[in-house]
This record gives sequence, structure tokens and C-alpha cells, in this order.
Amino acid sequence: RRLVVAVDGPSGSGKSSVCRAAARRLRAAYLDTGAMYRAATWYCLDRGVDLDDEGAVALAVEDLPLSLSTDPDHQTVTVGQADVTEAIREARISERVSAIATNREARALLVAAQRRLVDEAGFVVAEGRDITTVVAPDAQVRVLLTASAEVRLARRGLQMGGTQSTEALQRQVLARDAKDSTAVNFTEAADGVAVLDSSDLTFEETVDALVSRVES
Ligand code: CDP
Repeated sequence: RRLVVAVDGPSGSGKSSVCRAAARRLRAAYLDTGAMYRAATWYCLDRGVDLDDEGAVALAVEDLPLSLSTDPDHQTVTVGQADVTEAIREARISERVSAIATNREARALLVAAQRRLVDEAGFVVAEGRDITTVVAPDAQVRVLLTASAEVRLARRGLQMGGTQSTEALQRQVLARDAKDSTAVNFTEAADGVAVLDSSDLTFEETVDALVSRVES
């Protein structure tokens, strides 16, 4: 049986944590496609590939030795022998990931891999920027998870904390969203895609709203 829950949305919409929690409740697999773009970025940096060289980036992504768990309780990402689960969340990756996201050939390769993972999983909550439109436009449940810019930035600031000033972080998130939008338009829901605005919802309420769309 194939049941796909496709969720797209911008940074700070709460997408990843909401989708992981929803997958747990539904006993479905969870596919974090952003982790694949991040792993590809990590691999290019590790191999010393010039991220401005589109052809070199595409070649590297072609033999990316990526392994990604789709168990919502155990999210591990490995590239070759390296466990990069933590490393791909570092700022040095977030700052460069749009080089992969805007590379057409790299995207095509990652999208193909994502389609295979969705097929293998069968029952899956898959999240990213282009799941409802490109990776799984045939999904039974298609949702665009949004939140106002204010709320998204506040969530990021809260979520990350630490040494960087909140303001610098906010600039980084907005800049990344702006760069992203050159590759794929996820700011407007495509035909047949339901908008779920989490601005005024708690985390649990957002998870409930997503899960109820699957159960109905
Ligand atoms: O934390 P955030 O939601 O911004 O990032 P993420 O979901 O881990 O994705 C990291 C980056 O990968 C995004 O900023 C996009 O540039 C890219 N991405 C994409 O282009 N298409 C996807 N389906 C998923 C991620």
C-alpha cells in the first residue's frame, strides 16, 4: 500500500519537527529531504569541490555515497563511512546549501533518489520544498506548512540560540529563503495543496492538524 503525505514549507515553519512527530503518531516512515541537500553540501566541502562550479558539484552529487534513515525515531545520515547526522546542521552547511539547491543537475539526482525512497517506504511523511509539486505530486495528502515571517524568525532564534546574535541569524534565514526561491517556488500552494498556517497554533495543534488530514 502506498500512502504519501507530502509537506512543503519554508525555514522555521516547524516542518521537520511537526513531520517527524506526525510520522511517529501515524507509524509511518519519515523522509527529511533537506538532510539530503545538506549531506550533498557536506560531501562537496569534504572533497574540496568548488561550490561555484556547477558541473563539478553535479559530478560530486552523482556519486554521493549517501545513506539516510527514514525511521522517525532514529534519524541518522551517513556519507561513505562518516556519520554526518550532526555535522550537516552546522552553520557552515546552512550557509552553502543553496549552491546545491539551485543546481539543476544536482536537484534532478536528489529528486530521483527521493522518489526511490518514497516508493520503498510506501507509507511515508516526506518533507521539503518541492515534495507536493515535484517529488510526489501524486501524494494523497499534500500540505504547505506556513507561518508568518515574524513567527518563523522567532522560532529560529529560539531554536538555535547560542553564540550568534539573533539578528545575524535572522538575516541568514531570510537570505537562505530568498536564495531558495530561485530554485523552487514553495511560498504559494500549488493546485490541490492545502495551506496549514501554524502561526497561531502550538506544536501539538499543528501535529494534530496534519495527522487529521491523513486520518480523514
Ligand atoms: O532548516 P531548513 O528547513 O531551512 O532546512 P532543511 O529543510 O534542512 O533544508 C536545507 C536546504 O535544502 C533548504 O534551505 C533548501 O535550500 C534545500 N532544500 C531544497 O531545495 N529542496 C528540498 N526538497 C529540501 C531542501
